[in-house]
Amino acid sequence: MLRSVITGIGHYVPPRVVTNQDLEKRINTTDEWIRQRSGIVTRHHVEPGVNTSDLAVEAARRAVADAGIDASTIDFIVAATLSPDHYFPGIGVLVQAKLGLGTIGALDVRNQCSGFIYALGAADQFIRAGTYRRVLLVAAEVQSSNLDYSDEGRDMAVLFGDGAGAVILEPNDSDDGRGVLSTHLFSDGRFASRLWMEKPCPGDNPTFQKEFFDQGKFFPRMDGRHVFVNASERMPEAVRIGLAANGLDVGDIDALIPHQANDRISQMVAKGLKLPEEKVVRNIDRFGNTTAASIPIALDEAIKEGRIRRGQLVVLTAFGSGYTWASALIRW
Ligand SMILES: CC(C)(COP(=O)(O)OP(=O)(O)OC[C@H]1O[C@@H](n2cnc3c(N)ncnc32)[C@H](O)[C@@H]1OP(=O)(O)O)[C@@H](O)C(=O)NCCC(=O)NCCS
Repeated sequence: MLRSVITGIGHYVPPRVVTNQDLEKRINTTDEWIRQRSGIVTRHHVEPGVNTSDLAVEAARRAVADAGIDASTIDFIVAATLSPDHYFPGIGVLVQAKLGLGTIGALDVRNQCSGFIYALGAADQFIRAGTYRRVLLVAAEVQSSNLDYSDEGRDMAVLFGDGAGAVILEPNDSDDGRGVLSTHLFSDGRFASRLWMEKPCPGDNPTFQKEFFDQGKFFPRMDGRHVFVNASERMPEAVRIGLAANGLDVGDIDALIPHQANDRISQMVAKGLKLPEEKVVRNIDRFGNTTAASIPIALDEAIKEGRIRRGQLVVLTAFGSGYTWASALIRW
C-alpha cells in the first residue's frame, strides 16, 4: 500500500526567551511552582507585530530547505493552529501567499493540541489517495498575547509558549516500509468547555461586548485537573489502539513524542504504557506548551540530535481542547 513519508522537517521559535523569573515579575507565581507542576523553565514569546503565519512561514522554509526541494513544487498546504492571525481567513492561505505558492489549496485544521496529528491524518489521506504528491504541513501558535496574567488565568499563563513546526509529506514510491503507518483520531465534545476560549461567539449579538471583556471571557480557560486526568489516560489509550492496528506492541516503540502539555503528563503517559522514560522525547522545559506546534518542534529536535534514525518506529500522541486526542505511527 502507498504510504506517505516525511521528507523534510523544520521548526522556528521567536528569539525572545521568557524565564519563570520573568513571569514572577508579572504573575503571582513562582519558579518553584511552575517547575514542580509542569517542568517548564523557559518558553519563547513573540514581539508585538509578529503573527502566527510569520512563525509558520519560517518553519515551512526550514522544512523546505531540509527536504531539498523548490517550494514551488508543493501542491497543497494543511495548517494547524488555535491562534490564527484573524478570526477568518485561516493561516493556510496566508502561508500560501507569503511563500508565493500560486493558487494551491490550503486547509486549516482547528484541533488545538491534537492539531498536528489531525493535520497529518488529513495530509496522509490526500497522499494515499493520489490527490497530492507534495504537501506542506505546518503547525504554529502565538499564544503569549492572549493569556490572562491575573490570578484567575495564571494556571494557563505560565504553561504556554509560541512557536512553529513544519514537515513536507510525499508518497514513498519504494517498498522499504517507511512512512506513516496509521493515524487514529478521537474526540469527545462533551468536554469542550473544560478547555476553551469561550468568546468571541457569534451567537452573542453583538459578539464583542464590554461585559465579556470584564469577565475575562476572551481568555483561554481550563479545568486543569480534569485535563490532566483525561490527557494521562487518553494518550496511552490512543497509542495502544494504533499499535494494535499495526500488529505491534509497546516494546516495538523506539521513540514516543507526546504533545508537550506538561512534563508530568508526559511521565504519566510513559508510565501508563510501561515505556522506559528514555524513549520519551521531552523538551517542554525550554518551550512550554506550544499547542499544535509542540510535536513537530520535538520531532525536529529529536531527529537533529540523532535520537531518531531511519527504520525506527516513532509514535506521536496528543491530547487537547475539544477534547480531541490522537496517535500516529511512523516508520522513520
Ligand atoms: C494546571 C496544573 C499545572 C495545576 O497543577 P495542580 O497540581 O493541579 O495544581 P494544584 O491543585 O496542586 O494547585 C492549584 C493551586 O495552585 C494555584 N495556582 C494556579 N496557577 C498557579 C501559578 N501559575 N502559580 C502559583 N499558583 C498557581 C491555584 O490557584 C491553586 O491554589 P489553591 O489550592 O489555593 O486553590 C495541572 O492541573 C495541569 O497541568 N493540568 C493540565 C494542563 C494542561 O496541560 N493543559 C493543556 C492541555 S493540552
